[in-house]
Amino acid sequence: MLARTLLPPTRGGALFRSLAPPGATLVSLAAPAKVNLFLEVLGRRPDGYHALETLMLPVNLFDTLTFRHRIDGELRLTCSSPTLDAGPDNLVLRAARLLREATGVALGADIRLDKRIPLGGGLAGGSSDAAAALVGLDRLWQLGLGRDRLDPLAARLGSDVNFFLGDGPAWCTGRGEVVRPVECASPLSLVLVLPDFGLPTPAVFRELAAGVPHTPVAGDAIRAALAQGDIDAIGRSAHNRLEDPANRLDARVGRWLGVLHGVGSLGARMSGSGSSLFAVCRDGAHAARVASAVSAGATAAGLVGLVFVVHTRV
Ligand code: C5P
Repeated sequence: MLARTLLPPTRGGALFRSLAPPGATLVSLAAPAKVNLFLEVLGRRPDGYHALETLMLPVNLFDTLTFRHRIDGELRLTCSSPTLDAGPDNLVLRAARLLREATGVALGADIRLDKRIPLGGGLAGGSSDAAAALVGLDRLWQLGLGRDRLDPLAARLGSDVNFFLGDGPAWCTGRGEVVRPVECASPLSLVLVLPDFGLPTPAVFRELAAGVPHTPVAGDAIRAALAQGDIDAIGRSAHNRLEDPANRLDARVGRWLGVLHGVGSLGARMSGSGSSLFAVCRDGAHAARVASAVSAGATAAGLVGLVFVVHTRV
């Protein structure tokens, strides 16, 4: 069990920012992880995807991507993590090729990915990196596409990618790619858990379909609570329709939730299709206490994973 405390809340647009002006020979971007404070499934769509309503928030756990010109027109990706495949199927390179195809440019780039977001837990690090690749290369290559014209490209790369073209909390619908910013009164302090097992997203959605049909829960309460900064109501109205099917696939989901609920948090849920989970806390000091208690409780229960304190941005 490893407890980690991350940086204090960032303010004023620091999470997803460029460290270099447009047109520079080097562009550097921070690509944040996300949590789903609320996730409801409205039904299965004819294309096989599921219609969702989800409240997504970026957190201050992020990868860094650096883009440099290459005069030979090649696209090269290097990555700090030896376990991540930096080959042509990596979403960053797929995003770069898609951008070239869509615009007809034949420019090259060296892309460096410094990976901090853990892999395989549903924190959407790959989707965030892909969005950063679209934004970063749009800037490096001076294409001037901007968010509106990057949006359809993002949707082709994955359902979560569009969210990361923005830089704050959003209400996401469709299959997740229709993104509307939401009001958030103040940053949230969360304890984020990354268990030592992953859950394949398609399997979790299939397991939902195999279960009892459900009546969707409305997201009005949590959106109002977020806008008002009512942290108790946020904790109470956090929701994830995929939690039960995920727990049927691996009962450690429920055991982790038991630990997170039992340590004085304001509410705890799985995030996205798992296996990451979060507990809503009153402030940073409360989150630090909850994180220690979660680490101790998990060890006592024989559960293994990483425990982080993270903060969302408004
Ligand atoms: O869009 P993305 O590639 O991230 O989706 C991964 C998988 O998750 C899809 O192949 C599908 O099985 C499932 N999914 C879904 N409905 C969504 C989003 C994802 O069924 N809205």
